[in-house]
Amino acid sequence: MAQRFGKPRLNLGARFTLSIGLVILAASAFVFASVYRLQEEQTLAHLDTQARALLTQMVVLRQWVAEYGGVWTMQPGDSFAEISNGYYLKTPAMVTKELSKRSDALGYYRFHITSLNLKNPDNAPTEAEREALIRFENHPSPLSELETVDGAQMYRYMIPLETAQSCLRCHGDQRGRRRGRARRLRCRVRDSHRR
Ligand code: HEC
Repeated sequence: MAQRFGKPRLNLGARFTLSIGLVILAASAFVFASVYRLQEEQTLAHLDTQARALLTQMVVLRQWVAEYGGVWTMQPGDSFAEISNGYYLKTPAMVTKELSKRSDALGYYRFHITSLNLKNPDNAPTEAEREALIRFENHPSPLSELETVDGAQMYRYMIPLETAQSCLRCHGDQRGRRRGRARRLRCRVRDSHRR
């Protein structure tokens, strides 16, 4: 006589244990996903605060340099605008770039100053920066995004710079272009879960 094989049946106790197990698994997955999302949000908020603070500090420093009409140094450094009696004149852009090089070498953050109307073609914007600069013409509010650069995640924060009276001493020929100058700051995301 042919033997009949039915579906294996679990007794009530096993079914109950299995259901409880599944509920615990689903709840754990939900808690894990929520904690992860919260951590991501906190990391981004932290990076945003850091980027704003660093950029504010750099803007203040640049204004200070601009109000003195540039700073004179005893060494030429990477670049200088003028030389007089053995002293070298550094513009705010030159100071920005030299400081950026140092902080980048330490692996912390970097600045990029750029414009649609360039004094120095080496400061040309990337495609993404160009789009942001054009957007700044009508919407001068900060832009930020996470991006991957050379395999590392970076947080990019970009603001439009307003042209003050102190800037016109050297940028007078660009009068009327009050916006369209911008610079961006990028911070490396160094939290372990993003590495
Ligand atoms: C002492 C002269 C001087 C002053 C003051 C000055 N700049 Fe500049 N600026 C320059 C020079 C020269 C460059 C190009 C230098 C370089 O990149 O090495 C430059 C570059 C820039 C750039 C990068 C894009 C480009 O044109 O190459 C921006 C943006 C900029 N300046 C904005 C400003 C703003 C805003 C101020 C006022 C806070 C200011 N500058 C004050 C001389 C000056």
